[in-house]
Amino acid sequence: MCQDDKSLYEIISGRRTIRRFKPEPVSRDLLERLVDAGRLAPSAANLQPLEFVVVDEEKLKAEVFPCLKWAAYIAPAGDPGPGEEPAAYIVTLANTKVREKMFEYDVGAAMENMILAALAEGVGSCWLLSIDRDRLRAALGVPDHYRVDSVLALGCPAEEPAAEVMGESCRYWKDAEGRLHVPKRAIKTVVHFNRF
Ligand SMILES: Cc1cc2nc3c(=O)[nH]c(=O)nc-3n(C[C@H](O)[C@H](O)[C@H](O)COP(=O)(O)O)c2cc1C
Repeated sequence: MCQDDKSLYEIISGRRTIRRFKPEPVSRDLLERLVDAGRLAPSAANLQPLEFVVVDEEKLKAEVFPCLKWAAYIAPAGDPGPGEEPAAYIVTLANTKVREKMFEYDVGAAMENMILAALAEGVGSCWLLSIDRDRLRAALGVPDHYRVDSVLALGCPAEEPAAEVMGESCRYWKDAEGRLHVPKRAIKTVVHFNRF
């Protein structure tokens, strides 16, 4: 599963959301290290309201999958096909007794840490917010005072989406061969040195 030695910048710039996966497992050891990467992320006031549910059991994975909505711009063409489902999930929860609101920044930092740590070992991922939270809460037995925030779907990539320089539209698309293309704003349209 290990990639060639890549710098962190190369991992960041080569990262694309993956929604089609090979039928290969992600080891429990790696999943634990990914949670560790999430746990160690920056946290506002260091309150650390986040907890993580790792799902790698076949029966439970089959219950999580129908809770997820994939690639809204091209649905259903962005759904993982049969045999392309994620190998595991990490569901990120926020304990609202620790922090009632504004935990989303912590979630963002933790998710990106996990995404990059996974990719450094060749594991692709999709961060999902379009999820059926009530159904997931019931499936995973999450207590009421936890917000079910995000799902990270994980597995060995079975696709190679390409980044494109964005023109008029931010909508990603699939070409005739089924390859996903993802528009990204050009750097000169987003950077301001010293003054706006
Ligand atoms: C906060 C957040 C929520 C997202 N939710 C979903 C989702 O529910 N379903 C999905 O398929 N992709 C989701 N994505 C992935 C985005 O669609 C993806 O990041 C975007 O199209 C850019 O592609 P890239 O990640 O390859 O750069 C989400 C990404 C972020 C940051």
